[in-house]
Amino acid sequence: MAILVTGGAGFIGSHTCVELLDAGYDVVVYDNLYNASEKSLERVKELTGKEVTFVKGDILDPVMLEKVFTENKIESVIHFAGLKAVGESVAKPWEYYNNNIAGTLTLVDAMRKHGCKNIIFSSSATVYGDPAEIPITENCPKGQCTNPYGWTKSMLEQILSDIQKADNEWNVILLRYFNPIGAHPSGRMGENPNGIPNNLMPYITQVAVGKLKELGVFGNDYDTPDGTGVRDYIHVVDLAKGHVAALSKIQENPGLKIYNLGTGHGYSVLDIVTNFEKANGIKIPYSIKPRRAGDIATCYCDPALAKTEMGWEAQYGIEEMCRDSWNWQKNNPNGYED
Ligand code: NAD
Ligand code: UFG
Repeated sequence: MAILVTGGAGFIGSHTCVELLDAGYDVVVYDNLYNASEKSLERVKELTGKEVTFVKGDILDPVMLEKVFTENKIESVIHFAGLKAVGESVAKPWEYYNNNIAGTLTLVDAMRKHGCKNIIFSSSATVYGDPAEIPITENCPKGQCTNPYGWTKSMLEQILSDIQKADNEWNVILLRYFNPIGAHPSGRMGENPNGIPNNLMPYITQVAVGKLKELGVFGNDYDTPDGTGVRDYIHVVDLAKGHVAALSKIQENPGLKIYNLGTGHGYSVLDIVTNFEKANGIKIPYSIKPRRAGDIATCYCDPALAKTEMGWEAQYGIEEMCRDSWNWQKNNPNGYED
């Protein structure tokens, strides 16, 4: 029996493959390599000493999916595959709804045809919109998303919940990630964004490595202690381990479950700059820019439910997140192309 990891060559997926193999699972990765390099999987093998079966394929392709489920005995699917650039989703809503929603429907159809009814889905804190409570618990109502990417997550949560409700043989675990940063402590795997990064940490590491001149801080007039946006940053290795915990949970046939995966600590943009400078001894020049459309002031979670029900909690702190992000970037200034 194996775990099918869609999007397994990507940032969070590749780190999860390491943790799955270390935990003794057999892994089949299914990825169209739209936003990833197969080299990440070579690094997975290097770090674990174990083989990953890789199938290059699209979640929109029912024929290819049929082949994967026929050729492998899949017990559960961890579903990372999707497009994730917030700004791009505003410009290309059709592409985002098609890839993420039609892709997931195609995947789920292949799963049910083969009697595989266990899925762990990559959701996001974005489904809370401008959150009604801080820290955010899973009971916090979902909110209005500010972009099509966010809506794909919110809609897919609804779709997967409805599928589980109609057929209680399904087990669906929705994992709402907060802000994943960091990289594998070995420096061999990390985030590999195309073009100019949209997210804070890859932008900072590219300033540190000299590719970008300075960080733009998007607004310093929020209602937060220093006026800049506050987020719940989580080390990608902790996040990856959350998926191993969720797989154990799925063995209990839990039906539908929703968990926040974060640390429960909020750091502002300037906190991140200061911590990065301290951890790595590098100055990060920055200037204050206008607010970015769609951003909220504060977003951090209460991660207690994941601890109580799955025995999972984040182990790494902000220092390790900053250290490992930089360790990856400085050793691989051009990502997997080095
Ligand atoms: P990523 O882009 O590195 O990984 C996604 C992977 O999916 C890529 O390898 C890409 O090639 C693949 N993919 C995309 N469309 C595909 C398709 N149609 N068929 C097959 N493969 C396809 O992104 P990531 O940061 O590793 O994110 C993984 C998941 O977690 C995504 O669903 C993302 O939306 C979600 N998520 C990410 C964050 C974050 O900040 N990184 C936060 C919340 C949720
Ligand atoms: N920021 C800057 N300058 C930058 C980039 C970001 O000041 O160059 C600020 C933002 O304004 C925000 C904070 O840094 O206050 C974090 O921004 P990110 O873009 O890194 O992350 P977001 O919280 O906006 O969103 C991320 C993902 C979403 C996901 C969400 C919750 O991009 O897809 O985390 O998981 F939904």
